[in-house]
Amino acid sequence: MPITTPKEMFARAYKEGYAIGAFNVNNMEIIQGIMQAGAEERSPLILQVSAGARKYAGQVYIMKLVEAALAESDIPVVVHLDHGPDFELCKACIDGGFSSVMIDGSHLPFEENIAVTKQVVDYAHDRGVWVEAELGRLAGVEEHVASANSIYTDPDQAVEFVQRSGCDSLAIAIGTSHGAYKFKGEAKLDFERLDKISAMMPGYPLVLHGASSVPQEFVAMANEYGGKLGDAKGVPEDMLRQAARSGVCKINIDSDIRLAMTANIRKYMAEHPEAFDPRAYLKPARQAVKDMVQRKIRNVLGSSNKI
Ligand code: G3H
Ligand code: 13P
Ligand code: ZN
Repeated sequence: MPITTPKEMFARAYKEGYAIGAFNVNNMEIIQGIMQAGAEERSPLILQVSAGARKYAGQVYIMKLVEAALAESDIPVVVHLDHGPDFELCKACIDGGFSSVMIDGSHLPFEENIAVTKQVVDYAHDRGVWVEAELGRLAGVEEHVASANSIYTDPDQAVEFVQRSGCDSLAIAIGTSHGAYKFKGEAKLDFERLDKISAMMPGYPLVLHGASSVPQEFVAMANEYGGKLGDAKGVPEDMLRQAARSGVCKINIDSDIRLAMTANIRKYMAEHPEAFDPRAYLKPARQAVKDMVQRKIRNVLGSSNKI
């Protein structure tokens, strides 16, 4: 199956109140685990590549791995640049065959964010590529953006931003954050703000970053086998389901995959101190990715049997 754009995927997801999972990929085992889960669930997927992943694996390597995965698959898959820091990187990914890019100007002043987003939109749309932008700031650390406090997305500004930049989907800040330490106390998202934004832009696909749930059994597993993950806490699964019913068509998940892999590798290493063949511990790690993605598709995204 060739690489797909998000257009039809999001249109149906919006209409039916579910979301497409956007999973970060860095290597072969992660891609294989995600693809196996998508195939079993008959779920559309977004494989997303951060600037860091691109640097780690190399753009050509990642694309060839994705091509190999798609050659064996019959489910629709979008290949997306996650948190593109500037026009040049977005252009390189568009030229390299990505079907969707994110230009993340969320750290810039409003007018500058519009300008760089529009520049990417003009280049991308001429080539049939989808553009996600971001308005508002998530707490925590994005790869090139460090913000101690989140600045939630202003609904009026969101409408103006989309109209003037021409972006196809918009990532918003309503209380989620990247990484495994999202909430000090009780988990809380600003659903009133989300509902207001989606009511002001009917039919328009919104995106939620920082949407890992950090399942506590994996934190416990990692800690039991030598990890030190402290007070790791994520977004409760039912809140993400609610967001998917309010115009959120794309839900980004990276930390949960990292957690599942790491907890399982720690366990394997602790139980098999003699092991040193990487295949021995990467196999349960790949299985853990598959199980985690399957759990997401069923409990969080609601995207099973949507092909
Ligand atoms: O939002 C960031 C993603 O989790 C990607 O993380 O930059 O470490 O690859 P990364
Ligand atoms: P998590 O850290 O919550 O998995 O968020 C990932 C993300 O937003 C990637 O862009
Ligand atoms: Zn993100």
